[in-house]
Amino acid sequence: MHLVTLIPGDGIGPEITRAVVDIFTAAQVPVQWETHNAGETALAESGQLLPQTLFDSLEKTRVGLKGPVTTPVGKGFRSVNITLRQKYDLYQNVRPAKTTPGVETPFKGIDLVLFRENTEGLYAGLELWDERLGIADSISRNTVVGCRKICRAAFAYAAKHGRKHVTLAHKGNILKQAGKLMIDACREASAEFPEVTFYDDRIIDNMCMQLVNKPQQFDVIVTTNLFGDILSDLCAGLVGGLGVVSGANIGDDLAIFEAVHGSAPDIAGQGKANPTALLRSALMMLEHLGEKSYAERIEQALNETLLNKDQCTGDLGGKASTTEFAQYIIDKLK
Ligand code: NAI
Ligand code: MG
Repeated sequence: MHLVTLIPGDGIGPEITRAVVDIFTAAQVPVQWETHNAGETALAESGQLLPQTLFDSLEKTRVGLKGPVTTPVGKGFRSVNITLRQKYDLYQNVRPAKTTPGVETPFKGIDLVLFRENTEGLYAGLELWDERLGIADSISRNTVVGCRKICRAAFAYAAKHGRKHVTLAHKGNILKQAGKLMIDACREASAEFPEVTFYDDRIIDNMCMQLVNKPQQFDVIVTTNLFGDILSDLCAGLVGGLGVVSGANIGDDLAIFEAVHGSAPDIAGQGKANPTALLRSALMMLEHLGEKSYAERIEQALNETLLNKDQCTGDLGGKASTTEFAQYIIDKLK
């Protein structure tokens, strides 16, 4: 039995985490949940966006499944997600994007995995505001160690999963120092993993154009924090939208799995949310825990459900509610 910290989150978070928990129960997955909240709901309940009890739980279980959380804007709070990623050095943000039969997409045959550096760059939290001069400096902090870690992680993943091609997205023509760190780090990693036979790099703007023109040419993509944030949503749009893409924040000894999307306040509490993104993140978590057979069984039931539009949620053109969609998956597990 694996003990996992469950963070329901805000907005649609509780609805989609409920769906995932129900599907896991039906599939008799050997996971035991320890529920601790974060975000606005936690703030209302305990006076803290990130209660100490959540940290204690994560440090014990070393694995979390997290619904989206709302960070109140303009009230001096640091983003919950950035705090968790930095506190536990979850330096890899792994975001697969794959077309699924039944889900309408502008292209067919996309199967790529994006590795986004998750703790440095423009999101390192180094911002200076000079009231007198009216200047905001947002500093991008990039370290040799950080670049090496994310580039190595991308190549190691490619080698482990039989993927032959890694592409680095950067802006080394303008950001000469930071760009060079990533280019050097990828060259080193490429030499360490010769089984990944093809390594190339693209300037980030060209990368965007190529991704929307011919996304099938990409396999594993590695990039810095800001570029990765933007590219991952772009990739989500290529394979069916935010409701279907999964994500993981992985460090060397702790990992938190979560959907790419946010708390969707526009549809919260209405039973409209698609739990697929969180479910797929939970399946990545099962692989991480060495429970691949359960993940495969649930994935098959999910993919069968996605084939029938009537059984899908509104974002995929269907009419099913969050719980009805989950029930269709559960019925296929029996
Ligand atoms: P969002 O991802 O919540 O919503 C964007 C659009 O996609 C909305 O129209 C929403 O209804 C739709 N959508 C998102 N997830 C969906 C799902 N599972 N099923 C069906 N439709 C879905 O992004 P937005 O509106 O920019 O942010 C809302 C809040 O979420 C903000 O407070 C933001 O800070 C937070 N957020 C949290 C994240 C996290 O905890 N990982 C990530 C991104 C945003
Ligand atoms: Mg984002």
